[in-house]
Amino acid sequence: MGPVHKVVPLKVHYYGTPVVLISTLNPDGSTNIAPMSSAWWLDSDAMLGMSRSSRTTTNAARTGELVLNLASADLVHHVDRLALLTGEEELSPHKLEKGYRYEPRKFEAAGLTPEPADLVAADMVAECPIQLECKVVDMHDFGNARAIHAHILRSHVDTSLIVPGTDYVDPALWNPLLMKFCDFFGAAEPLTPSRLAAAWDIPGRLERI
Ligand SMILES: Cc1cc2nc3c(=O)[nH]c(=O)nc-3n(C[C@H](O)[C@H](O)[C@H](O)COP(=O)(O)O)c2cc1C
Repeated sequence: MGPVHKVVPLKVHYYGTPVVLISTLNPDGSTNIAPMSSAWWLDSDAMLGMSRSSRTTTNAARTGELVLNLASADLVHHVDRLALLTGEEELSPHKLEKGYRYEPRKFEAAGLTPEPADLVAADMVAECPIQLECKVVDMHDFGNARAIHAHILRSHVDTSLIVPGTDYVDPALWNPLLMKFCDFFGAAEPLTPSRLAAAWDIPGRLERI
């Protein structure tokens, strides 16, 4: 028999997605970084769900570009230090109530290192193993938030994660920091070789180990 279900008015639908640190350029030329996890990916595009009141959304709309820095599980304490900070001087009533504070120097606050990007004016996060330079294609209303459609222009990958001789990330070596129901998880364990991975002829897939 399967599980017994109950109708529940669920308040949170964060089932487990990788944490991304979004870099955007502030009007004064400094870089803002903000953790987010409402991101999904298709080909070389990403759709990012960001609140309207975030500095990230206003910076992305003004500059038309951003960097998506993918956080690995070992960066969890750095990411957590950013959790209740905003680069926006004007805090929304919701953020005031939750205890957020304005912080213009996010890299210092998180103990992370800025690294110049090639194509985007905002700095990348040096500690993140995967950094994706993007241009903003479009922005749409999405519930109370904005959906930011970003196109990946250039990908920087930690060489130790690349399947040798290929342009692929080794899925067994990439250990994303995941957010599930607002808590942090890591150590994604291999389950079984995937038929999709086989059909795509993905190098480094589980079949190998
Ligand atoms: C792990 C994690 C995931 C988050 N995911 C999102 C998200 O997907 N969308 C969003 O709008 N805010 C998300 N937040 C909250 C933002 O980080 C928060 O609004 C922050 O103030 C944005 O910074 P900014 O105002 O400097 O852009 C998340 C926070 C954490 C810690």
